[in-house]
Amino acid sequence: MSTALYRTYRPGRLADVVGQEHVTEPLARALSSDRVHHAYLLSGPRGCGKTSTARILARSINCEQGPTPDPCGECRSCVDLAPNGPGSIDVIELDAASHGGVDDTRELREKAMFAPVASRYKVYIVDEAHMVTPQGFNALLKLVEEPPEHVRFIFATTEVEKVLPTIRSRTFNYTFRLVPTRILQQHLAGVCEAEGVSADPAALALIARSASGSVRDALSILGQLIAGSGPEGLTHDEVAAQLGLTDTALLDETVEAIASGEGSRLFGVIDRVVDAGHDPRRFATDLLQRLRDLIVLTAIPGGEALAILDAPDAEIEAMRSQATGFTLAELSRAADLVSDGLTQLRGATAPRLLLELLVARLLLPATDDSAAGLAIRVDRLERGSTPALPVRPAPSPAPVPPVSAAPAPLEAVEPAAEPTLPVRRARPPAATPPPPPPAAQRRRAQPQAT
Ligand SMILES: Nc1ncnc2c1ncn2[C@@H]1O[C@H](COP(=O)(O)OP(=O)(O)OP(=O)(O)O)[C@@H](O)[C@H]1O
Ligand SMILES: [Mg+2]
Ligand SMILES: [Zn+2]
Repeated sequence: MSTALYRTYRPGRLADVVGQEHVTEPLARALSSDRVHHAYLLSGPRGCGKTSTARILARSINCEQGPTPDPCGECRSCVDLAPNGPGSIDVIELDAASHGGVDDTRELREKAMFAPVASRYKVYIVDEAHMVTPQGFNALLKLVEEPPEHVRFIFATTEVEKVLPTIRSRTFNYTFRLVPTRILQQHLAGVCEAEGVSADPAALALIARSASGSVRDALSILGQLIAGSGPEGLTHDEVAAQLGLTDTALLDETVEAIASGEGSRLFGVIDRVVDAGHDPRRFATDLLQRLRDLIVLTAIPGGEALAILDAPDAEIEAMRSQATGFTLAELSRAADLVSDGLTQLRGATAPRLLLELLVARLLLPATDDSAAGLAIRVDRLERGSTPALPVRPAPSPAPVPPVSAAPAPLEAVEPAAEPTLPVRRARPPAATPPPPPPAAQRRRAQPQAT
């Protein structure tokens, strides 16, 4: 395997572009009905298929059988424009990062007037379009607005807001999205199969997760891991180790210690994290991910949660039992704390100290009088479980904020409860119940009275 996977597996037709159906389907319909616009602007995050789609579009409109969403793959143009093909003289790619100046766009403007050499259209793909200078864009405006019949433009960019509004308003805009983890995982599975590499789905889930929605990143990571893998292929533990993910056992222990409020155990984990040379930020990120999984398991009790989690079955079982140690409010607050802690850890000079302070805050949910802390205490009371730490009798000024917050729900409940229950219970013994009893009861009551 000498070529990078993301180059080997560049899609060659719209149907092969994964996770961007909201773009590829309308484009396919436009191609089928021969309603291709003269200029497109494809935008979105890195590595999600913009350049690939621009090339596919060029290939689809120039196919001899086309315009078609399904290029034949055999005509001259299709062969030239195949992924990793030699390229076509009539499809001109301009990298605006290096050729976005006014001289370049003026040259483009002049050449655009000549008819295509061998194809139906002359297609200009302007990649990294946000790098075209304002003067460069101005030189293009007229051409993009009313190009000759044989010219098509496709702009691609990660930063659509930097593209001149005058260009944006003359193009059809399509926004690419980050690809969901599940879809990335399926895509990776397909690539592994094609490469003849055996891979554990849970291992692929880890890779997909680390790629954060970028198909190119996912394939890059996959390539590196395959290169470093043994005969057993990609296993979950091996991939976790190679990606430098925190050992799941450490995460299990952290979560259990938080649930039971065992400070010594929790600080012991931190000790091991740091001693083992783990990056505190990585640990906090993985802990946040774990809390997220527990939140999903708590919020969606049935089997549906499995579709949203990317963990192997054994880990999900362990997480299910961990989730029972928390209320949703506790998990959500812990996640907030870890997320804040992560921000502080960025570029921190004493990450260990910050991690320990974070852990200390995680141990103290029940004694905090923020709205989230109160919600947790109410949750605990309702479940009939004792808080992890006894609520300290607070010195005089402390009760004031909670008291001002607490009466609202109490007052709301009381007026409703009082008139219904006590009033009815007080009246039956009295001689005349105001509403007449139902007919059946009245009939039985009359003989008794006479
Ligand atoms: N939606 C996708 N479906 C299938 N493969 C994809 C997709 N997006 C990206 N890839 C893979 O990633 C590689 C790079 O994709 P592409 O060049 O189209 O991304 P891009 O959106 O233009 O990224 P950048 O913003 O970095 O230029 C492709 O060769 C392909 O292997
Ligand atoms: Mg690109
Ligand atoms: Zn063709």
